[in-house]
Amino acid sequence: MNTDTQLKPSVTPFFHAPTGTWTYVVADPASRAAAVIDPVLDYDWRSGRTGTKSADALVAHCANERLEVAWILETHAHADHLSAAPYLKSRLGGRIAIGRGILQVQATFKRIFGLGADFTADGSQFDVLLADGDRIDLGAVPGRVIAAPGHTSDSVAYLFGDALFVGDTVFMPDGGSARCDFPGGDAAELYRTVQRLYALPAETRVFVCHDYSPGGREPRCETTVAAQREGNIHVRDGVSEASFVEMRRTRDATLDVPNLIIPSVQANIRAGRLPPPEADGVSYFKVPLNVLGRPL
Ligand SMILES: [Fe+2]
Repeated sequence: MNTDTQLKPSVTPFFHAPTGTWTYVVADPASRAAAVIDPVLDYDWRSGRTGTKSADALVAHCANERLEVAWILETHAHADHLSAAPYLKSRLGGRIAIGRGILQVQATFKRIFGLGADFTADGSQFDVLLADGDRIDLGAVPGRVIAAPGHTSDSVAYLFGDALFVGDTVFMPDGGSARCDFPGGDAAELYRTVQRLYALPAETRVFVCHDYSPGGREPRCETTVAAQREGNIHVRDGVSEASFVEMRRTRDATLDVPNLIIPSVQANIRAGRLPPPEADGVSYFKVPLNVLGRPL
C-alpha cells in the first residue's frame, strides 16, 4: 500500500541565475496533472524592462510533456525576484495560490509603499489563499500545504508525495537558512518551522528555493531531510532555538537589502501583476525614500 511519501512525483528544476532562484514543475506522471512552484519573471532594474525568456522555458517544458497545470504556487511573496505567475496562468492555465499570511504581508507593504485605495490588502489578487493542512493533490500524488513562517509570515512549504518544496526556510545544507529580518520575519518562528519540516521522513526529498553557490560550487537544488538534519550549517540536530536565533540576529544585521526588493514586493503582493497603468498607460513602481534598510 502506498503512503503519501512513497508516491514520487516527477520534479523538474529550472534555475534563474540572475537571482539564484529555483523554480520547479512537479507532476503526477500518470495523470500529467502538474504544479509550477515559484516561477520568475525576468526583470532589469536599470531599464525597468520585464521579460519572459525564463518563464517561456517552463511553458515549453509543460507543452512538451503535455502537462495539465492545475496550480501556480508561490512559497511566499518574494523580495528578490518578480513572479511570472500571471504570465504562466495566461499561457498554461492553473490557479495562482499563496499562503493566507499574504494578508499581513499586503497590509505591511501597502503602508511601506504608500499604496492607495486601489490596492486592497484582502488577498483577492490571488485565486486561492492556502492554509496549513490544505490538500492540493495532483492526480494520484497527494499534495499538502505546510505553514512555514519565519522568513516571512506568509511562507508555506508544499509536500507532494515524497517531495518537499521548502521555500525560503533552509537552503542546501552548506547554504544554511533564510534571513528573518524582513517585516513579519521571526528567527524563533523559522526555527520551529524547520523542526516541523525535519520531522518528516528522513528520506523525504527536499527542494530549495534558492542557491547562491557557496564556495563557488555549481548551483544545487535537491537534498533530503536526513542530510539537512545531519549537516545544515545553521540548523541541524543538536542546534538549540536560542543559538539559532542568536546566529540569525547577528548574521541578518550584516545583510544588505535584496537588489530587487522594491519592484519585487510591489509586483508580488499583486500576485505578480504590475501596478495598474497610470493616465499615460505606463505602469510605475514607487521607491520609498529612507524607509528600507539601514541608514548610510
Ligand atoms: Fe524570500
